[in-house]
Amino acid sequence: MNTDLPAALGGTPVRGTQQYPRWPQWDEAERAGLNAVLDSGSWWSGDGAYATTFARDFAHYHNARFGLALTNGTHTLEAAMVACEIGEGDEVIVPALTFVASAGAVLAVNATPVIVDIETETLCIDIDKAEAAITDRTKAILGVYVAGAPPDLDRLIELCARKGIRLIEDCAHAHGTVWRGQGAGSFGSFGSFSFQSSKLMTAGEGGALICNDETLRARAESYINCGRSEDGHWYHHPNLGSNLRMTEWQGAVLSSQLARFPSQNSIRNANAIRLSAALAEIPGLSAQPRDPRMDSQGNYCFVWHYDRESFAGLSLRSFELAMEQEGIPLGVSYPSLNTLEVFRTANFGPRLRNSAPTTDYAALHLPIAEHAATSTVWMEHRVLLGTHEDVLDVAIAAARIQRNAAQLTKLGAT
Ligand SMILES: Cc1ncc(COP(=O)(O)O)c(C=O)c1O
Repeated sequence: MNTDLPAALGGTPVRGTQQYPRWPQWDEAERAGLNAVLDSGSWWSGDGAYATTFARDFAHYHNARFGLALTNGTHTLEAAMVACEIGEGDEVIVPALTFVASAGAVLAVNATPVIVDIETETLCIDIDKAEAAITDRTKAILGVYVAGAPPDLDRLIELCARKGIRLIEDCAHAHGTVWRGQGAGSFGSFGSFSFQSSKLMTAGEGGALICNDETLRARAESYINCGRSEDGHWYHHPNLGSNLRMTEWQGAVLSSQLARFPSQNSIRNANAIRLSAALAEIPGLSAQPRDPRMDSQGNYCFVWHYDRESFAGLSLRSFELAMEQEGIPLGVSYPSLNTLEVFRTANFGPRLRNSAPTTDYAALHLPIAEHAATSTVWMEHRVLLGTHEDVLDVAIAAARIQRNAAQLTKLGAT
Protein backbone atom coordinates (compact mmCIF):
# COMPACT_ATOMS: atom_id res chain seq x y z
CA MET A 1 0.00 0.00 0.00
CA ASN A 2 1.25 3.46 -0.91
CA THR A 3 1.38 5.28 2.42
CA ASP A 4 2.48 8.50 0.72
CA LEU A 5 -0.88 8.99 -1.02
CA PRO A 6 -2.64 12.24 -0.06
CA ALA A 7 -6.12 11.94 1.41
CA ALA A 8 -7.39 13.71 -1.70
CA LEU A 9 -6.24 10.64 -3.68
CA GLY A 10 -7.64 8.12 -1.22
CA GLY A 11 -4.75 7.96 1.27
CA THR A 12 -5.02 8.16 5.04
CA PRO A 13 -5.18 11.77 6.28
CA VAL A 14 -2.13 13.00 8.18
CA ARG A 15 -4.52 14.13 10.90
CA GLY A 16 -7.03 11.31 11.13
CA THR A 17 -8.98 11.69 14.32
CA GLN A 18 -6.63 14.05 16.18
CA GLN A 19 -8.07 17.53 16.41
CA TYR A 20 -6.07 20.72 16.74
CA PRO A 21 -6.78 22.80 19.87
CA ARG A 22 -10.14 24.53 19.67
CA TRP A 23 -10.63 28.27 19.57
CA PRO A 24 -11.70 30.24 21.55
CA GLN A 25 -10.26 28.89 24.77
CA TRP A 26 -11.68 29.61 28.20
CA ASP A 27 -11.88 28.13 31.68
CA GLU A 28 -13.23 28.90 35.12
CA ALA A 29 -11.61 32.33 35.08
CA GLU A 30 -13.94 33.61 32.33
CA ARG A 31 -16.90 31.93 34.06
CA ALA A 32 -16.04 33.57 37.39
CA GLY A 33 -15.64 36.96 35.74
CA LEU A 34 -18.99 36.71 34.00
CA ASN A 35 -20.69 35.63 37.22
CA ALA A 36 -19.09 38.51 39.08
CA VAL A 37 -20.47 40.96 36.53
CA LEU A 38 -23.90 39.33 36.71
CA ASP A 39 -24.03 39.42 40.48
CA SER A 40 -22.77 42.98 40.67
CA GLY A 41 -25.62 44.30 38.54
CA SER A 42 -23.06 46.64 36.98
CA TRP A 43 -23.33 45.51 33.40
CA TRP A 44 -22.12 48.60 31.59
CA SER A 45 -18.78 50.33 31.82
CA GLY A 46 -20.28 53.44 33.44
CA ASP A 47 -21.03 51.43 36.59
CA GLY A 48 -18.32 48.76 36.64
CA ALA A 49 -14.55 48.63 36.28
CA TYR A 50 -13.91 45.53 34.17
CA ALA A 51 -13.82 47.18 30.74
CA THR A 52 -11.72 50.16 31.85
CA THR A 53 -9.33 48.00 33.87
CA PHE A 54 -8.91 45.61 30.97
CA ALA A 55 -8.23 48.46 28.53
CA ARG A 56 -5.61 49.96 30.84
CA ASP A 57 -3.88 46.60 31.38
CA PHE A 58 -4.01 45.79 27.68
CA ALA A 59 -2.42 49.16 26.83
CA HIS A 60 0.32 48.67 29.41
CA TYR A 61 1.00 45.19 28.07
CA HIS A 62 1.76 46.85 24.72
CA ASN A 63 3.81 49.63 26.35
CA ALA A 64 1.22 52.35 25.79
CA ARG A 65 -0.01 54.80 28.44
CA PHE A 66 -3.75 54.79 27.72
CA GLY A 67 -6.29 52.19 26.69
CA LEU A 68 -9.93 52.56 25.70
CA ALA A 69 -12.40 49.67 25.50
CA LEU A 70 -14.73 49.70 22.50
CA THR A 71 -17.36 47.65 20.73
CA ASN A 72 -15.12 46.24 17.98
CA GLY A 73 -12.02 46.76 15.85
CA THR A 74 -13.91 48.66 13.16
CA HIS A 75 -15.17 51.31 15.55
CA THR A 76 -11.68 51.63 17.03
CA LEU A 77 -10.35 52.70 13.64
CA GLU A 78 -13.23 55.12 13.14
CA ALA A 79 -12.69 56.66 16.59
CA ALA A 80 -8.95 56.97 15.91
CA MET A 81 -9.70 58.85 12.69
CA VAL A 82 -12.07 61.21 14.47
CA ALA A 83 -9.61 61.83 17.30
CA CYS A 84 -6.91 62.61 14.71
CA GLU A 85 -9.36 65.13 13.20
CA ILE A 86 -9.52 63.31 9.88
CA GLY A 87 -12.63 64.09 7.87
CA GLU A 88 -14.08 65.33 4.61
CA GLY A 89 -11.48 66.22 2.00
CA ASP A 90 -8.71 64.28 3.73
CA GLU A 91 -6.90 61.22 2.45
CA VAL A 92 -5.63 58.21 4.39
CA ILE A 93 -3.20 55.77 2.79
CA VAL A 94 -4.25 52.16 3.28
CA PRO A 95 -2.51 48.95 2.16
CA ALA A 96 -4.39 46.81 -0.33
CA LEU A 97 -4.21 43.47 1.48
CA THR A 98 -6.35 43.90 4.57
CA PHE A 99 -9.86 43.46 5.88
CA VAL A 100 -12.45 45.82 4.42
CA ALA A 101 -12.78 47.68 7.74
CA SER A 102 -9.31 49.24 7.35
CA ALA A 103 -10.60 51.26 4.40
CA GLY A 104 -14.24 51.35 5.53
CA ALA A 105 -13.30 53.29 8.66
CA VAL A 106 -11.74 55.98 6.47
CA LEU A 107 -14.94 56.27 4.47
CA ALA A 108 -16.96 56.27 7.69
CA VAL A 109 -15.40 59.62 8.62
CA ASN A 110 -16.00 60.93 5.12
CA ALA A 111 -12.34 60.79 4.08
CA THR A 112 -10.82 59.04 1.07
CA PRO A 113 -8.87 55.78 1.34
CA VAL A 114 -5.89 55.82 -1.00
CA ILE A 115 -5.14 52.17 -1.59
CA VAL A 116 -1.50 51.27 -2.25
CA ASP A 117 0.27 48.04 -3.01
CA ILE A 118 2.15 45.81 -0.58
CA GLU A 119 5.58 44.20 -0.32
CA THR A 120 5.81 40.76 -1.90
CA GLU A 121 7.23 38.84 1.05
CA THR A 122 5.86 40.51 4.19
CA LEU A 123 2.47 41.33 2.61
CA CYS A 124 2.57 44.65 4.49
CA ILE A 125 2.36 48.14 3.00
CA ASP A 126 5.10 49.05 0.49
CA ILE A 127 6.66 52.12 2.09
CA ASP A 128 7.97 53.53 -1.21
CA LYS A 129 4.52 53.30 -2.75
CA ALA A 130 3.01 54.86 0.35
CA GLU A 131 5.44 57.77 0.07
CA ALA A 132 4.67 58.21 -3.62
CA ALA A 133 0.95 58.39 -2.80
CA ILE A 134 1.28 61.26 -0.31
CA THR A 135 -0.44 64.50 -1.38
CA ASP A 136 -1.35 67.78 0.30
CA ARG A 137 -4.52 66.10 1.49
CA THR A 138 -2.86 63.10 3.14
CA LYS A 139 -3.48 63.07 6.88
CA ALA A 140 -2.39 59.58 7.87
CA ILE A 141 -1.02 56.22 6.86
CA LEU A 142 -2.77 53.16 8.22
CA GLY A 143 -0.05 50.64 9.06
CA VAL A 144 -1.71 47.24 9.01
CA TYR A 145 0.04 44.33 10.73
CA VAL A 146 -0.67 41.43 8.37
CA ALA A 147 -1.09 38.15 10.26
CA GLY A 148 0.65 39.95 13.13
CA ALA A 149 3.72 40.96 11.11
CA PRO A 150 4.44 44.68 11.33
CA PRO A 151 5.14 46.85 8.33
CA ASP A 152 8.71 48.20 8.35
CA LEU A 153 8.10 50.43 11.35
CA ASP A 154 11.52 52.08 11.24
CA ARG A 155 10.78 53.43 7.78
CA LEU A 156 7.10 54.08 8.36
CA ILE A 157 7.67 56.10 11.53
CA GLU A 158 10.42 58.11 9.81
CA LEU A 159 8.23 58.74 6.76
CA CYS A 160 5.25 59.94 8.80
CA ALA A 161 7.44 62.21 10.91
CA ARG A 162 9.19 63.67 7.84
CA LYS A 163 5.90 64.37 6.06
CA GLY A 164 4.07 65.57 9.16
CA ILE A 165 1.31 63.00 8.88
CA ARG A 166 -0.07 60.58 11.41
CA LEU A 167 0.59 56.87 11.73
CA ILE A 168 -2.39 54.83 12.84
CA GLU A 169 -1.59 51.18 13.50
CA ASP A 170 -4.22 48.58 12.64
CA CYS A 171 -3.20 45.79 15.01
CA ALA A 172 -6.33 43.67 14.67
CA HIS A 173 -4.01 40.74 13.91
CA ALA A 174 -1.15 41.66 16.21
CA HIS A 175 -1.88 41.22 19.91
CA GLY A 176 1.50 40.61 21.46
CA THR A 177 3.63 41.65 18.48
CA VAL A 178 6.82 43.34 19.70
CA TRP A 179 9.10 45.46 17.49
CA ARG A 180 12.51 46.44 18.90
CA GLY A 181 11.29 45.70 22.42
CA GLN A 182 8.10 47.76 22.15
CA GLY A 183 4.53 46.58 21.80
CA ALA A 184 2.44 46.83 18.63
CA GLY A 185 0.17 49.84 18.52
CA SER A 186 2.33 52.04 20.74
CA PHE A 187 4.38 53.69 17.96
CA GLY A 188 1.87 55.86 16.14
CA SER A 189 -0.99 58.13 17.19
CA PHE A 190 -3.15 55.10 17.96
CA GLY A 191 -3.01 51.33 17.95
CA SER A 192 -6.29 49.65 17.08
CA PHE A 193 -7.13 46.08 18.17
CA SER A 194 -10.03 43.71 17.59
CA PHE A 195 -11.37 41.02 19.94
CA GLN A 196 -13.77 39.46 17.45
CA SER A 197 -14.14 35.73 17.79
CA SER A 198 -11.32 34.62 15.49
CA LYS A 199 -8.74 36.96 17.03
CA LEU A 200 -5.86 36.08 19.38
CA MET A 201 -7.88 37.21 22.39
CA THR A 202 -11.64 37.36 22.20
CA ALA A 203 -14.93 38.17 23.83
CA GLY A 204 -16.89 37.32 20.68
CA GLU A 205 -16.71 41.00 19.75
CA GLY A 206 -14.74 43.91 21.15
CA GLY A 207 -12.00 46.38 20.40
CA ALA A 208 -9.33 48.49 22.10
CA LEU A 209 -7.55 51.69 21.21
CA ILE A 210 -4.19 52.35 22.78
CA CYS A 211 -2.21 55.58 22.66
CA ASN A 212 0.35 57.70 24.49
CA ASP A 213 -1.03 61.18 23.93
CA GLU A 214 -3.41 62.64 26.49
CA THR A 215 -5.18 64.95 24.03
CA LEU A 216 -5.81 62.14 21.56
CA ARG A 217 -7.05 59.89 24.35
CA ALA A 218 -9.51 62.52 25.54
CA ARG A 219 -10.84 63.15 22.02
CA ALA A 220 -11.29 59.43 21.33
CA GLU A 221 -12.92 58.88 24.70
CA SER A 222 -15.39 61.67 24.11
CA TYR A 223 -16.26 60.30 20.67
CA ILE A 224 -16.95 56.79 21.92
CA ASN A 225 -18.96 58.10 24.86
CA CYS A 226 -21.61 60.15 23.05
CA GLY A 227 -19.46 63.27 22.73
CA ARG A 228 -19.36 63.81 26.49
CA SER A 229 -16.72 65.79 28.32
CA GLU A 230 -14.90 64.17 31.20
CA ASP A 231 -15.78 66.65 33.89
CA GLY A 232 -19.10 67.84 32.52
CA HIS A 233 -22.70 67.19 33.47
CA TRP A 234 -24.06 63.83 32.22
CA TYR A 235 -26.07 65.56 29.53
CA HIS A 236 -23.31 67.93 28.58
CA HIS A 237 -22.29 67.00 25.02
CA PRO A 238 -19.70 69.43 23.71
CA ASN A 239 -18.74 67.14 20.80
CA LEU A 240 -20.50 65.06 18.18
CA GLY A 241 -19.95 61.49 19.30
CA SER A 242 -21.35 58.01 19.19
CA ASN A 243 -21.83 55.18 21.65
CA LEU A 244 -19.02 52.72 21.02
CA ARG A 245 -18.49 51.51 24.58
CA MET A 246 -17.55 47.94 25.49
CA THR A 247 -19.79 46.11 27.98
CA GLU A 248 -18.63 44.80 31.35
CA TRP A 249 -19.26 41.24 30.14
CA GLN A 250 -16.65 41.68 27.44
CA GLY A 251 -14.28 43.41 29.84
CA ALA A 252 -14.49 40.50 32.29
CA VAL A 253 -13.88 37.86 29.62
CA LEU A 254 -11.02 39.82 28.09
CA SER A 255 -9.28 40.29 31.44
CA SER A 256 -9.06 36.50 31.71
CA GLN A 257 -8.01 36.20 28.08
CA LEU A 258 -5.21 38.71 28.70
CA ALA A 259 -3.98 36.82 31.76
CA ARG A 260 -3.69 33.66 29.64
CA PHE A 261 -2.26 35.41 26.60
CA PRO A 262 1.52 35.50 27.32
CA SER A 263 1.83 31.73 27.61
CA GLN A 264 -0.25 31.16 24.47
CA ASN A 265 1.79 33.75 22.63
CA SER A 266 5.08 32.08 23.41
CA ILE A 267 3.76 28.67 22.33
CA ARG A 268 2.52 30.16 19.06
CA ASN A 269 5.82 31.93 18.43
CA ALA A 270 7.93 28.83 19.01
CA ASN A 271 5.67 26.76 16.79
CA ALA A 272 5.57 29.40 14.05
CA ILE A 273 9.38 29.40 13.91
CA ARG A 274 9.44 25.58 13.73
CA LEU A 275 6.82 25.48 11.02
CA SER A 276 8.53 28.17 8.94
CA ALA A 277 11.72 26.10 8.95
CA ALA A 278 9.86 22.92 8.00
CA LEU A 279 7.97 24.58 5.14
CA ALA A 280 11.21 26.02 3.77
CA GLU A 281 12.27 22.44 2.99
CA ILE A 282 9.32 21.97 0.61
CA PRO A 283 9.77 23.18 -2.97
CA GLY A 284 7.39 26.05 -3.74
CA LEU A 285 6.51 27.01 -0.14
CA SER A 286 7.92 29.81 2.01
CA ALA A 287 6.44 31.31 5.14
CA GLN A 288 5.88 35.04 5.58
CA PRO A 289 9.35 36.10 6.80
CA ARG A 290 9.97 37.12 10.41
CA ASP A 291 11.73 40.46 10.52
CA PRO A 292 14.76 40.19 12.85
CA ARG A 293 13.73 43.52 14.45
CA MET A 294 10.51 41.84 15.60
CA ASP A 295 10.90 40.10 18.99
CA SER A 296 7.51 38.44 19.02
CA GLN A 297 4.71 38.00 16.47
CA GLY A 298 1.08 37.81 17.45
CA ASN A 299 0.23 35.32 14.73
CA TYR A 300 -3.45 35.96 14.02
CA CYS A 301 -2.91 33.60 11.11
CA PHE A 302 0.12 31.73 9.91
CA VAL A 303 0.66 32.67 6.27
CA TRP A 304 2.82 31.14 3.61
CA HIS A 305 3.47 31.73 -0.07
CA TYR A 306 2.42 29.05 -2.55
CA ASP A 307 4.14 28.70 -5.91
CA ARG A 308 1.76 26.82 -8.15
CA GLU A 309 4.47 25.92 -10.68
CA SER A 310 6.35 23.93 -8.03
CA PHE A 311 3.13 21.97 -7.48
CA ALA A 312 2.74 20.86 -11.12
CA GLY A 313 0.23 23.64 -11.75
CA LEU A 314 -2.10 22.60 -8.92
CA SER A 315 -4.36 25.57 -8.19
CA LEU A 316 -4.20 27.24 -4.79
CA ARG A 317 -7.82 26.28 -4.14
CA SER A 318 -7.07 22.63 -4.94
CA PHE A 319 -4.03 22.72 -2.68
CA GLU A 320 -6.13 24.21 0.14
CA LEU A 321 -8.82 21.56 -0.29
CA ALA A 322 -6.20 18.82 -0.28
CA MET A 323 -4.71 20.25 2.94
CA GLU A 324 -8.13 20.37 4.54
CA GLN A 325 -8.64 16.72 3.59
CA GLU A 326 -5.41 16.01 5.48
CA GLY A 327 -7.06 17.62 8.53
CA ILE A 328 -5.30 21.01 8.43
CA PRO A 329 -7.68 23.92 9.20
CA LEU A 330 -7.13 26.77 6.76
CA GLY A 331 -8.73 30.13 6.09
CA VAL A 332 -8.41 32.23 2.94
CA SER A 333 -6.57 35.40 2.03
CA TYR A 334 -8.34 38.73 1.85
CA PRO A 335 -9.00 39.85 -1.69
CA SER A 336 -7.10 43.01 -2.63
CA LEU A 337 -9.28 45.95 -1.50
CA ASN A 338 -9.51 47.42 -5.01
CA THR A 339 -11.20 44.24 -6.24
CA LEU A 340 -14.02 44.39 -3.67
CA GLU A 341 -17.39 45.21 -5.17
CA VAL A 342 -17.99 48.13 -2.81
CA PHE A 343 -14.90 49.87 -4.23
CA ARG A 344 -15.23 48.75 -7.83
CA THR A 345 -18.77 50.09 -7.98
CA ALA A 346 -18.17 53.02 -5.57
CA ASN A 347 -21.24 51.89 -3.69
CA PHE A 348 -20.82 54.30 -0.77
CA GLY A 349 -24.33 55.69 -0.45
CA PRO A 350 -26.36 56.94 1.26
CA ARG A 351 -23.72 58.07 3.74
CA LEU A 352 -21.43 59.55 1.10
CA ARG A 353 -24.16 60.47 -1.41
CA ASN A 354 -22.68 63.91 -2.07
CA SER A 355 -19.12 63.45 -0.91
CA ALA A 356 -17.93 60.09 -2.24
CA PRO A 357 -14.26 59.81 -3.21
CA THR A 358 -13.61 60.67 -6.83
CA THR A 359 -11.03 57.86 -7.10
CA ASP A 360 -11.82 55.31 -9.80
CA TYR A 361 -11.05 52.22 -7.72
CA ALA A 362 -12.09 49.93 -10.59
CA ALA A 363 -9.19 51.28 -12.64
CA LEU A 364 -6.62 50.49 -9.96
CA HIS A 365 -4.21 47.65 -10.59
CA LEU A 366 -2.20 46.55 -7.56
CA PRO A 367 -0.28 43.56 -8.88
CA ILE A 368 1.47 42.43 -5.72
CA ALA A 369 -1.64 42.41 -3.55
CA GLU A 370 -3.78 40.92 -6.30
CA HIS A 371 -1.25 38.14 -6.79
CA ALA A 372 -0.85 37.56 -3.04
CA ALA A 373 -4.61 37.13 -2.70
CA THR A 374 -4.40 34.10 -4.98
CA SER A 375 -1.02 32.68 -3.96
CA THR A 376 -0.91 32.71 -0.16
CA VAL A 377 -2.16 30.13 2.29
CA TRP A 378 -3.72 31.37 5.56
CA MET A 379 -3.83 28.92 8.43
CA GLU A 380 -5.86 29.34 11.61
CA HIS A 381 -3.79 30.30 14.65
CA ARG A 382 -5.24 27.54 16.83
CA VAL A 383 -2.96 25.09 14.98
CA LEU A 384 0.03 26.91 16.49
CA LEU A 385 -1.29 26.12 19.97
CA GLY A 386 -0.70 22.41 19.38
CA THR A 387 2.39 20.38 20.22
CA HIS A 388 5.60 20.42 18.23
CA GLU A 389 4.41 17.26 16.42
CA ASP A 390 0.92 18.69 15.77
CA VAL A 391 2.44 21.67 14.03
CA LEU A 392 4.93 19.68 11.99
CA ASP A 393 2.00 17.67 10.62
CA VAL A 394 1.19 20.76 8.57
CA ALA A 395 4.51 20.44 6.74
CA ILE A 396 4.13 16.67 6.43
CA ALA A 397 0.74 17.18 4.76
CA ALA A 398 2.05 19.90 2.44
CA ALA A 399 5.08 17.83 1.43
CA ARG A 400 2.91 14.83 0.63
CA ILE A 401 0.70 16.96 -1.58
CA GLN A 402 3.77 18.41 -3.30
CA ARG A 403 5.18 14.96 -4.04
CA ASN A 404 1.86 13.89 -5.54
CA ALA A 405 0.98 17.22 -7.14
CA ALA A 406 1.30 16.02 -10.72
CA GLN A 407 -1.21 13.24 -10.10
CA LEU A 408 -3.56 15.58 -8.27
CA THR A 409 -3.40 18.07 -11.10
CA LYS A 410 -3.84 15.41 -13.76
CA LEU A 411 -6.77 13.72 -12.11
CA GLY A 412 -8.37 16.99 -11.12
CA ALA A 413 -9.03 15.04 -7.95
CA THR A 414 -9.48 18.04 -5.66
C1 LIG B 1 -6.96 44.17 9.77
C2 LIG B 1 -8.31 44.31 10.41
N1 LIG B 1 -8.75 45.52 10.75
C3 LIG B 1 -9.93 45.70 11.34
C4 LIG B 1 -10.76 44.63 11.63
C5 LIG B 1 -12.10 44.88 12.21
O1 LIG B 1 -12.27 44.31 13.46
P1 LIG B 1 -13.73 43.90 13.97
O2 LIG B 1 -14.12 42.64 13.28
O3 LIG B 1 -13.55 43.71 15.44
O4 LIG B 1 -14.64 45.04 13.66
C6 LIG B 1 -10.34 43.35 11.30
C7 LIG B 1 -11.19 42.18 11.59
O5 LIG B 1 -11.00 41.09 11.13
C8 LIG B 1 -9.09 43.17 10.66
O6 LIG B 1 -8.66 41.96 10.31
